[in-house]
Amino acid sequence: MQVGIVGAGMVGATTAFAAVLLRAASEVVLVDIDRAKAEAHADDIFHAVPFAGHARVRAGDFADLAGARAVVLACGVSQQPGETRLQLLGRNAAVFREVVPGVVRAAPGAILIVVSNPVDVLTCVALEASGLPAGRVIGSGTTLDTARFRALLADHLRVAPQSVHAYVVGEHGDSEVLLWSSAAVGGLPLDAAAANLGRPLTREDRQRIDDAVRRAAYRIIAGKGATYYGVAGAVARLLRAIRDDERAVLTVSAVGRPGASYGDVALSLPRVVGAGGIEAELLPPLADDEADALARSAGILRDALRSLPR
Ligand code: LAC
Repeated sequence: MQVGIVGAGMVGATTAFAAVLLRAASEVVLVDIDRAKAEAHADDIFHAVPFAGHARVRAGDFADLAGARAVVLACGVSQQPGETRLQLLGRNAAVFREVVPGVVRAAPGAILIVVSNPVDVLTCVALEASGLPAGRVIGSGTTLDTARFRALLADHLRVAPQSVHAYVVGEHGDSEVLLWSSAAVGGLPLDAAAANLGRPLTREDRQRIDDAVRRAAYRIIAGKGATYYGVAGAVARLLRAIRDDERAVLTVSAVGRPGASYGDVALSLPRVVGAGGIEAELLPPLADDEADALARSAGILRDALRSLPR
C-alpha cells in the first residue's frame, strides 16, 4: 500500500520510519516544503529497509501522492513546552486549508489521516477543506491515549497490554475521558480482574494513571521537546487496519454521524476502521460522570471550532 506523508518534521519522519519498520506500507512518499529535509529523511529510512522488509521510501511533491491509499497530514507547528494542543489551532488550520485541497486533487481516492494538533479540530478543518465523506477523514485522536491507558493498566495488573480492553474518548487533549467503567481484562470487569490478580486499584492508583495518560505529552515535551514515537506507532496501526481491511476497533477522531450526539464535532470514540476508512461507530455504556465529561469535551471542541475564522 502506498502511503503519503505531508510534513517531514519529527512526527512525519518517525511515522514514515514506523510504517516501514512495522511493514504497514510498501511505499512511502514524504512531502515537505523543505525538499532537502524530506530527501534526507527518505534516504536515512531507506537505509533501514534491508533490516525491515521490502518498501520504497522517497521524497516527492503532491503529484507523487497520486497512487496513495492513505495520506498522513503531519504538517504545521507542534506544541512548545507548556503549550496546549488547542493553542496551535489558528496556525495549523491555515496550513491545512492551504494543503488539503492539493492533497485531494493529487490523491482523490485516498483516506486522510490527520495527526497534527489540535487533531480533533483539524480533522473538522480537513473534512471541510477536502469535500470527502466523513469516514475518509480520520484523526489519530485518542488512539495513542488509549494505548497509554492500556499500557499503564497492564503494568499495574502485570498482564499484557493486548489483554486489557479500555478506551479513552473525546478530545485528544486535556479534556479527554478515560472510560474506567467499561474497562475489562480477560472478559472480567476491571475491578474484578484486579482483585482476581491480587492487584486492586486504589483511588490513588486511578488518579496516578489518569494523570500519567492525560499529562504524558507535556512531560515528554518538557524532557525532549516533542513527542513522536507513540503517535507514529498509532498511525502505523491505523495504516495496517486500512491496508488489510481489518475492521479493527480504534479510538480515532472523526465527525460523528449526522444527528448523533456528537455529529457536529470531531472527537474520538471506538470506531471500526477498514479499507474504506471508518465503517462504524461503537459507544460503550458510560457512567454518569463519563457521559458528563464527554459532553464537556465535545463542548470545548465545538467552541474551538467556532473560534476559527470562516
Ligand atoms: C501526544 C501528541 C501526539 O499526545 O499529541 O503525544
